[in-house]
Amino acid sequence: MDGNGRWASRRLLPRAAGHRQGVDALRRCIRACIQRGVQVLTVFAFSSENWRRPAEEVDHLMELLAKALVREVPQLQKAGVRIHFAGERHGLAERVRQGLAQAESDTAQGGKLILNVCFNYGGRWDIAQAAARLAAQGQPITESALADALALAHVPDPDLLIRTGGEQRISNFLLWQIAYSELFFSDKLWPDFDEAALDEALAAFAARERRFGKTSEQVA
Ligand code: IPE
Ligand code: MG
Repeated sequence: MDGNGRWASRRLLPRAAGHRQGVDALRRCIRACIQRGVQVLTVFAFSSENWRRPAEEVDHLMELLAKALVREVPQLQKAGVRIHFAGERHGLAERVRQGLAQAESDTAQGGKLILNVCFNYGGRWDIAQAAARLAAQGQPITESALADALALAHVPDPDLLIRTGGEQRISNFLLWQIAYSELFFSDKLWPDFDEAALDEALAAFAARERRFGKTSEQVA
């Protein structure tokens, strides 16, 4: 969900205003995904590298998450959303950790959409923590064992990965899981990512031929 800071700067607003707007964009996106029958939505909210930002901005993002959970969880629960957080929880404040656990347990019955929120997450962290867990259990590190030990083992690999904000890079998001994902790069800044932008990405996805290593004739 990239582009909050630029969205704010263009309006001569503080970056925090862009992040707040980003929460609204996420709420709209969740609703649009449910309407379109999307079953899993995984969003990158805070990366392992985002700690390098000014402390003031990091604090704001932590605060924003905590407040958004309190405000949004009841509605998400009603809408049938099941929230799951992926990422390193140890580095987070106790209050934030409790908020994550509460949101997960409050929405555990949701059956419409699984919402994975990657928070203090990095693709490299995920692969390393999975391998470390297998090693600690003395298990052989095979592709399927590793996949099952990743933070998103409860959902299939993503079909489509959308990056907003005009950058064309992965920035340590899901690394293992996107081996065969279709990539879509949108110039829209995240706060401007609306239903039309989502539909554009879904239409582009629908037009792709997914071969998974096979030939075109084989998958036809
Ligand atoms: C949001 O966008 C991503 C988060 C870390 C919350 P940015 O804050 O990266 O926005 P830009 O890239 O500065 O525009
Ligand atoms: Mg950015």
